[in-house]
Amino acid sequence: MAKYIIRQSPALTGDVSISGSKNAVLPIMAAALLTDEACEITDVPALRDVDVMCGLLRGIGARVNERYGEKTLEIAAEKIASEEAPNELVKKMRASVLVMGPLLARAGRARVALPGGCAIGTRPIDLHLKGLRALGARIESENGYVVAVADGLRGANIYLDSPSVGATENIAMAAVLAKGTTVIENAAEEPEIVDMVNFLNKMGARIKGAGTDTIKIEGVERLCGAKHAVIPDRIETGTFMLAAAITRGSALIRNAVPDHVKPVTAKLRECGVDVRVSDDGLIVDARRGALTSTDIKTLPYPGFPTDIQSQFMAFLTTVRGSGVVIENVFENRYMHVNELNRMGANIKIEGRVAIVEGDCRLRGAEVFATDLRAGAALVLAGLYASGTTRISEIHHIERGYESFVEKLRGMGADIVRMEDG
Ligand code: UD1
Repeated sequence: MAKYIIRQSPALTGDVSISGSKNAVLPIMAAALLTDEACEITDVPALRDVDVMCGLLRGIGARVNERYGEKTLEIAAEKIASEEAPNELVKKMRASVLVMGPLLARAGRARVALPGGCAIGTRPIDLHLKGLRALGARIESENGYVVAVADGLRGANIYLDSPSVGATENIAMAAVLAKGTTVIENAAEEPEIVDMVNFLNKMGARIKGAGTDTIKIEGVERLCGAKHAVIPDRIETGTFMLAAAITRGSALIRNAVPDHVKPVTAKLRECGVDVRVSDDGLIVDARRGALTSTDIKTLPYPGFPTDIQSQFMAFLTTVRGSGVVIENVFENRYMHVNELNRMGANIKIEGRVAIVEGDCRLRGAEVFATDLRAGAALVLAGLYASGTTRISEIHHIERGYESFVEKLRGMGADIVRMEDG
């Protein structure tokens, strides 16, 4: 099994360019099922999760042409041959459930494996189903699958009990071809939702309010093909901001959208890191002054992202003082804590709260990535730790970071990928 071997690294310098957003491209790919015309998606990151979604779309009957060299995907779903998201794919990638809304709208039926428990909590899909039911779908479960059927969806008012990103996306994709108007209240406001809605509107959908908590969708008869460039990945951006900060380096992060990482910027500044916006991108400079701890609370956008919690925690172990981290979005998203503690961190967990002692002398260790962002946190800790850190189960990390090793090495990090290290 491949591993990352990381040695204590110098302060990172130079620049890095951020790839297209994983969490934006996945729903956009699913949305391409809503038309029989060809769609072209550009700024696509070459990631395992994108490969999984390509496989899923092909299984459904779409022609998918990957031109990763040009960061481009062409998707043409002329016919829907199967309305199924099989268990082996949903198990690999939970975002597979995003084909449910488009399949229901386009083919009147979707059969999707139920995502079971996963490393970051149980993660149910009840809100997706509540919304689809309100649009007129009949939903049954059989042998670990959810089957949704509808003969024509009708617009409805849907209040989400919590602003789920996936539920907002699935419901919006189903509602674009429904008869009449749908209003989603307490909708998720993430930039990835705005990007998906921009793509849908280019296809001919009539959606207003994306990026606010109320999204209004006027159903249309049909959608057409469209071309769309995916937004930069704000979680990758935050991860590189923290890579610069944890190594006390100074880096220019190109192709970042500063507005999308405001909470990370604000918290890094509280710790004493200088973050500036320039014409070329974000400059993160942690070379001067003693850095101190802060507290973070994860929340739906525009709050502090849960997907940056573990990386920020790794950073907090290295600064002066102690900080409190509260994970509000997912239960059980502290799988990295054991591994960080094995590297010499001093983090205590009580339910959703973690107390992170700073000033830790992290030491390299054999650790494993339990999930994507937990793995990224271990990489950051490995850059700071003395000695050598070996991270296994890196397939989790490669689900969501394009050319992670190459990008870090380009900034001076001492990290290599070993096939059976
Ligand atoms: C998306 C992101 C993921 C990010 C998360 C929160 C993608 C592909 N993934 O995941 O990286 O960490 O947003 O920002 O975009 N919930 C329910 N019922 C539901 C749906 C969700 O109770 O029907 C709960 C979940 O268990 C979780 C919370 O709501 O506790 C947030 O989940 P959600 O916003 O749906 O996350 P995802 O769309 O799965």
